[in-house]
Amino acid sequence: MARLTFHGQSCYEIETADGTRILIDPFLTGNPVADVGPEHFTDRLDYLLLTHGHGDHIADTWDILEATNAMLIATYEIVSYAGEVQGHQNAHPMHIGGAHEFPFGRVKLTVAIHGGKIDAPGAEAYTTTPAGILLTVDGTRVYHAGDTALTRDMELLNGEVDVALVPIGDNFTMGPEDAARAIGMIEPRIAVPNHYGTWELIDVDPARFVDGVGDVAEVVILAPGEALEL
Ligand code: NI
Ligand code: MN
Repeated sequence: MARLTFHGQSCYEIETADGTRILIDPFLTGNPVADVGPEHFTDRLDYLLLTHGHGDHIADTWDILEATNAMLIATYEIVSYAGEVQGHQNAHPMHIGGAHEFPFGRVKLTVAIHGGKIDAPGAEAYTTTPAGILLTVDGTRVYHAGDTALTRDMELLNGEVDVALVPIGDNFTMGPEDAARAIGMIEPRIAVPNHYGTWELIDVDPARFVDGVGDVAEVVILAPGEALEL
């Protein structure tokens, strides 16, 4: 059984039953709601996964990779940037629609409708297509939607997801009502909202998401530092 810990915005840590440590979208430095800093990961990290290149997802990536030499798993363009500009070679490029079996489980990148800029020094020549991440760890299928609009492509995930992590903060991503419609399409067992409350601009009441989801899924609201056993 794996443990999923929320660290604010879109950042999750997953520790598998065998102790493999996975980090998604580390935005800790400069995140007013993060419960830990990058030093929480610099002693040991095995894999770092990114949905896209925006600053509130990629922020601490380079410091953590330099300290741990964890394997970066991201789109081809972000991996190219990591190797060519940041000098980080332990990386696995993927792209939307493709899946790969890693020692800890399967990762598939899914469609996300969002912006492609990479917020990192010297990244002007690189742009990418944002992704969602569908990963299977210890038999549980977790969908991290990344930053995205509501899209009918989510219907393709119906029957494929046990735990869905979806943005609800509006303005940059789905708001709570659209996120609830996404859950209606996906029909996961558990729905976890994220990407809200970090700043005033995305400060929405998650009760709107809970109301919208209704009986379709169990909504679990994680505060930064709280964990869910998968
Ligand atoms: Ni973004
Ligand atoms: Mn974001």
